[in-house]
Amino acid sequence: MTDHHPHGPAADAAHHHARDRAHEHAAAVERALAALDLDTKARLLSGQDMWTLPAVPAIGLRSLVMSDGPVGVRGQDWSPEDPSVVLPSPTALAATWDPELARRTGHLLAQEARRKGVHVLLAPTVNLHRSPLGGRHFECYAEDPLLTGEIGAGYVRGVQEGGVGTTVKHFVGNDAETDRLTVDNRIAPRPLRELYLAPFEHIVENARPWGVMTAYNQVNGSTMTEHRALVQDVLRGAWGFDGCTVSDWTAARDTVRALRGGLDVAMPGPRTVYGARLAEAVRGGAVAESEVDEAVRRVLLLAARTGCLDGVPAAVDPAAVPRGIDGRAVAREVARRGCVLLRNEPVAGARRALPLDAAAVRRVAVIGAAAREARVLGGGSATVFPDAVVSPLEGLRAALPDDVELTFAAGADPRSRVPHAREGFTLRARYLAADGRLLAENAQRDGKVQVMGRFPEGVTRQNLSAVELTGSFTPRHTGRHTLAVSGTGELRLTVGGTVLFDGHCAPEGGDPFEEFLNPVERRVTAQLTADECVDVTLRYVPDHPGGSGEGPATLHFLLGHRAPQADADTEITEAVRAAADADVAIVVVATTEETESEGFDRGDLRLPGRQDELVCRVAAANPHTVVVVNSGSPVELPWREEVPAVLLSWFPGQEAGAALADVLLGAHEPGGRLPTTWPARLDDAPVTTVTPTGGQLHYAEGVFVGYRAWQRSAVAPAYPFGHGLGYTDWEYESLDTTPDSVRVRVRNAGDRPGREVVQIYLAPTEDAAPDAPERPARWLAGFAVVEAGPGESTEAEIPLPDRAFAVWDAEGGDWQRVKGVYLVEAARSIGDRRLTAEVTVG
Ligand code: BGC
Repeated sequence: MTDHHPHGPAADAAHHHARDRAHEHAAAVERALAALDLDTKARLLSGQDMWTLPAVPAIGLRSLVMSDGPVGVRGQDWSPEDPSVVLPSPTALAATWDPELARRTGHLLAQEARRKGVHVLLAPTVNLHRSPLGGRHFECYAEDPLLTGEIGAGYVRGVQEGGVGTTVKHFVGNDAETDRLTVDNRIAPRPLRELYLAPFEHIVENARPWGVMTAYNQVNGSTMTEHRALVQDVLRGAWGFDGCTVSDWTAARDTVRALRGGLDVAMPGPRTVYGARLAEAVRGGAVAESEVDEAVRRVLLLAARTGCLDGVPAAVDPAAVPRGIDGRAVAREVARRGCVLLRNEPVAGARRALPLDAAAVRRVAVIGAAAREARVLGGGSATVFPDAVVSPLEGLRAALPDDVELTFAAGADPRSRVPHAREGFTLRARYLAADGRLLAENAQRDGKVQVMGRFPEGVTRQNLSAVELTGSFTPRHTGRHTLAVSGTGELRLTVGGTVLFDGHCAPEGGDPFEEFLNPVERRVTAQLTADECVDVTLRYVPDHPGGSGEGPATLHFLLGHRAPQADADTEITEAVRAAADADVAIVVVATTEETESEGFDRGDLRLPGRQDELVCRVAAANPHTVVVVNSGSPVELPWREEVPAVLLSWFPGQEAGAALADVLLGAHEPGGRLPTTWPARLDDAPVTTVTPTGGQLHYAEGVFVGYRAWQRSAVAPAYPFGHGLGYTDWEYESLDTTPDSVRVRVRNAGDRPGREVVQIYLAPTEDAAPDAPERPARWLAGFAVVEAGPGESTEAEIPLPDRAFAVWDAEGGDWQRVKGVYLVEAARSIGDRRLTAEVTVG
């Protein structure tokens, strides 16, 4: 647990320093506020474009820049030309169960933010894994509120120690994507407090975030950008949140209701419910200027904290921020510490399948499209662009001795969309005026042209008429190549002088980000010859040059390319042959951007394409088959008992292959434990409804989400909450407990150093208040990460917070400690509990 409040002279000095700084900030905020007129104040609460707030030079206020979040810092350009360090998915970070590591990733993200001129990170995402179908499951941490809160608090602390703000999101109840803009989530008081609000509360209390993002959805009849009861009364009133609230993008709908509901900033601009409309509302008497002032104070405070307000020092002294952090090293560490070894059985009665014994292996078959092109992150606004990715194939090649032969076979390609044109293409984007004049020109890394917020220099929404993606393509293979185009508007593709496509495309769904998240794709084919260079031009005339309505600048179209492929049966047969000829087969199976993304939920948990069949046939051909699961959230693994080893890499970030090689070859053990229960089949999962009916989604399961529900289910999951094997064994030696804390002694009983996640569960016994409200059989009350060398013992001291024994009493409107006798269990996972003690709460 992270929340050890430091004591001693250094801590006292830090406390005094923070208090003095808070006074200075408050005074500077009042001075700045007094110098602003109503129009400027109203303007300050409204985005000036996609990512920024306006500057007010007269009071020394610079423009505040915000950016997604959470696995990297994208910056103001949504483009591979502006790359970022890409960390593993939030599910992977949570799987480390290590708030200190989360804090260190925060330091790196702050460093990235400073490099890109970003003051506020739009992260972390702390909604819960209510259902495995949730489209942004990969972007949230866990099914448990305590684990989510602890990881989120570590993250926020780290980013803010780096002098950069956070906006904890999405407050609250954005646990699925279907109809996210309108859905009314009906959540009873107990689950709302005990589960969905709990991570926000924990983070506010322990890490003091400077921002919170209010969600698109409604909760119990009020949309979250107007939810006075939850924002003003709970978040600010009861918890003492003193930061700034920012709407999710386009989520603010009504000027007066938003302001009254406690929303400070409406994003994105330039036209929002605030700005001129807010000034009018004040002049018309609909709201008082003093109410506007309250919101402006909080924006000014955010500016002061992040160093954007002259005349007052930032919350963190720039000389004191962590610097010189090696981003690739952090990404690699999180990837290997987060990956979860689900299964590791002996092969043919000999040693366990992992780690591989490099000295005994002569030939390794690496199989799966994702082994060559790792899926490093999930889709949607969490997208950031890595400078370079280490694929599993490259990582293994670099780590294995040179005399080990490595063969690759794609086996089955799960991608249903054609990948962006890249290999063999040299492309540039030309921005053109109506008269054909060239306004700007950019080199392109691949076939995706995207603007989300600002155009290249020289281009404006008024002068832009068309964009040409143009250059050359030199194919590696002779045959029928597939090309694809997408974008909203007129598209004309010419290859080698022939027009292959000329037509209009438009999106089909209703989400404002549909154009980005799920663009319509049109395919054509071309017969091309290896090594013969052809000219390629995709001309795009957008329906709404520069973006629709008065929204911020946006532009999005793309050229896809797929080289000629063998037919699917041949691909699998080749993979099986490669496996049969090798000592070890490593199969990487993956989801795709069409499976896991913001903007839509999943329809099932199956691996896309023919990947299940691929694994079964490879395993039949080679008993030493290791399967790496490259997904951000649960997928069904119907073959899991037919292979000796299953390793879950999540979305592993840019150092995917390097971390994978570390773990497969045993340089490091896989350190992760499941932050969410892994069902064998979707139908077994406790919550499988994410689609509202009549506009409402009832959280009818109450507090029984995740393991809280699985414990009363007749079926067992594939792998329980908290599960994960390392490369050593642990003995749980002793457990001492008081009502405030637990002391657990564990011994590394294996022959190599290791790290253990000691988990503490609380289980009420029958003597525990028989009239208490229904509670789960047990729940997570604390945890700690410990390390020990072979044969060594070590001790973890884990506080038992009051809250662990409490339920929310809706009638009394407060937490109520439930008296009685509890079992305190020290466990390796919720399914592997090793020691038990009793504690009586009076
Ligand atoms: C997402 C937010 C994100 C914002 C800006 C929204 O669609 O829900 O999480 O921060 O876009 O990209």
